[in-house]
Amino acid sequence: MFLKNIYRIVCFLYRNISTFLQIYIFPKSKKKIFNRNFVYFSYKEKNDLFRVNLDEFIYEKKNDFQSIFIFDENKIKFFIKKILNKNFRDFITNKTGFVYSIDYFSFYRNFHIPNNQMRSVYANFFHLDKPYSKNMLKIIVPISVTSFREGPLIIKKSKPLVLKNQEPNQDDLFSFLSNKKENIIYAFHPSKCFHKASVPIKDKFCTQIMMQLNPSDKWKINSKIFDKQDKQEPKFPELINIFDSYKPIA
Ligand SMILES: [Fe+2]
Repeated sequence: MFLKNIYRIVCFLYRNISTFLQIYIFPKSKKKIFNRNFVYFSYKEKNDLFRVNLDEFIYEKKNDFQSIFIFDENKIKFFIKKILNKNFRDFITNKTGFVYSIDYFSFYRNFHIPNNQMRSVYANFFHLDKPYSKNMLKIIVPISVTSFREGPLIIKKSKPLVLKNQEPNQDDLFSFLSNKKENIIYAFHPSKCFHKASVPIKDKFCTQIMMQLNPSDKWKINSKIFDKQDKQEPKFPELINIFDSYKPIA
């Protein structure tokens, strides 16, 4: 309990200090940063996002209920450039006032968890991402996640920082579902709204891409993104990544 409280305090300080410093150092538009009043937004890509035959790729079991697709460096770059193309990058900057480094990429599949009440396996209970700046942005691309049955990511859209119990009113929630053309992309601030990976029903699964974006001096890709894809998402990214090298996205 004592260590848990210490960790909470460290996260609180880290979150607030990194948020403040980023607003001071990196903004492309201070006005946009202070006028932000969203916790999530969506974007429709006009072109086909991608048609990938996932069977071609190595499929690594992370645990009994989650698997990761492993891609080589070129393929990850291909995905990132396709998703975060110039139009979408400009759209994000226009919304948030920042440009970003892409520090984590994961292409994963969540499966049904029997007795879901028992334990958190892949962030399947409502939570806030704690050891991160409030400016950290997550990009989610759901792939064939057409209904609640496939286990979409769910956020609490109204009173996003208030959670009285694990089962809020359905009207307060928003699910990141694929659209018909599978060209919809979502972005949200995981430190600013409760969210969870909902659990697919039996025999269904949820396949999606998740990327962690941290405010930066320019749009760029962390060079270690390839090594990290099958690891846990890095915490305290501004500290952990301090000696990492980057490549421009374009
Ligand atoms: Fe999370």
